Amino acid sequence: MIDNFAGRAAEWDSAEKIGMTNIFVNEMLKKVLLKKDFKALEVGSGTGLVGLQILPSINSIVFEDTSEAMLGVLRGKLSNKDSVEIIHGEVFDYQKQDIDLVFSCMAFHHIPDIDKALAHLFDITKANATIVVGDIRSEDGSFHRFEPIPHCGFDTDKLTEQFQKTGFDVLTAFTYNVLSRERVKGEITDYEQFMLIATKK
Ligand SMILES: C[S@@+](CC[C@H](N)C(=O)[O-])C[C@H]1O[C@@H](n2cnc3c(N)ncnc32)[C@H](O)[C@@H]1O
Repeated sequence: MIDNFAGRAAEWDSAEKIGMTNIFVNEMLKKVLLKKDFKALEVGSGTGLVGLQILPSINSIVFEDTSEAMLGVLRGKLSNKDSVEIIHGEVFDYQKQDIDLVFSCMAFHHIPDIDKALAHLFDITKANATIVVGDIRSEDGSFHRFEPIPHCGFDTDKLTEQFQKTGFDVLTAFTYNVLSRERVKGEITDYEQFMLIATKK
């Protein structure tokens, strides 16, 4: 498995990334009621900036990521009392069908086959489970400096259709933040971050 984040893991937890993930968590908590008995799965958890904020309010989290380096940083933050499972791998590597809540922040654009991933999420979630995806809206590739990436953001209408086709109900898809970045020298571009929230019927 190629670890595209190996060179970035040690410095991932910057003030910028902490700020970005805090905004995601705040927005998610406005819309999703966490329950003490929830088992959650975080797809593309990275160093745990999102999940570790959610963990105290629920029962347990499965952290899943393809980067061993990012998960190494996460492991360093855990105590043996934490109710967590760590999966170094793809979402397909989690097989039990016991998940109440799935969340993912800025990782979906790295997943090559979204339809397949959604079908798997449908299989491993319980009835009435909630799925929360935060990512960027469609962009011209400059967000990743035109490096090859599975998705240059998402058209939320199309992503909504993909969720619905899988069997999920989409409750909302809205812009929750705008990242202004100078990816091309001398040019500031605004990249909209959306949050899509779906439930399993
Ligand atoms: C932009 S980072 C976001 C990390 C974290 N969610 C955050 O917001 O700080 C994307 C993460 O997705 C992971 N990733 C890439 N491809 C993946 C895949 N196919 N399945 C799961 N995670 C993946 C990367 O290793 C990386 O940790």
